[in-house]
Amino acid sequence: MTVLEVSRYRPGVDAEPVFQSYDVPDHDDWAVLDGLNYVKDAVDGTLSYRWSCRMGICGSCGMTVNGEPRLTCGTFLADYDGPIRVEPLRGFPVIRDLVVDIEPFLGKLSSVSPWLIRKGEDPASEFAQTPQQLEAYKQYSMCINCMLCYSACPVYVLEPDFLGPAAIALAQRYNLDSRDEGDRFDVLSTDEGVWGCTFVGECTSACPKHVDPAEAIQRYKLTAAVRSVLPWVRP
Ligand code: SF4
Ligand code: FES
Repeated sequence: MTVLEVSRYRPGVDAEPVFQSYDVPDHDDWAVLDGLNYVKDAVDGTLSYRWSCRMGICGSCGMTVNGEPRLTCGTFLADYDGPIRVEPLRGFPVIRDLVVDIEPFLGKLSSVSPWLIRKGEDPASEFAQTPQQLEAYKQYSMCINCMLCYSACPVYVLEPDFLGPAAIALAQRYNLDSRDEGDRFDVLSTDEGVWGCTFVGECTSACPKHVDPAEAIQRYKLTAAVRSVLPWVRP
């Protein structure tokens, strides 16, 4: 058997989180999420956590596994020796047990206007794009909004107003799209935006979809810096 040490907490009822241990069967192909589902189905139906797709697509099963932010559907019991500690994602208020409040994160995503912005009339025909133009933003479009990068980011954990890695990467997904004519400078070039990042790089290391939010942030810092000095150097 593998032992899962799971954080249990009901805000307003419990004084603080406590760990509860559960024995789950050893199966080489079981992910941590399978272990939690076993507990929920066969041992303790009161355990609360989020999941949906079980295949690294929905982004809802992010938790802290032995101290690291992980997708629990892609993190396997067999990869660990000894007890496996499962806690909610760090940096987010806990609603219950392993479920965290995602509303502040959703607000950050929507603040960057994550859609194609066009000026004037759209042409009647489709917007053709070359493979190179697609490649310019494609990696940022792979984000599944799992919030692991926020949980890994030491700036976000200390400064909850920081716009954060995924929201800035999402802004770059549209900034770098040849069809977009939007301007996200006022949201991005602020102390809570790209200038809040101290370039630790943990966001990129934590990302399960190989998005590179750290690169998105540094790249927009350059864009913002050039844009800020241009009025002073132009004749
Ligand atoms: S950038 Fe990566 S870690 Fe961050 S929310 Fe998107 S998929 Fe998750
Ligand atoms: S359950 Fe959907 S990403 Fe893990």
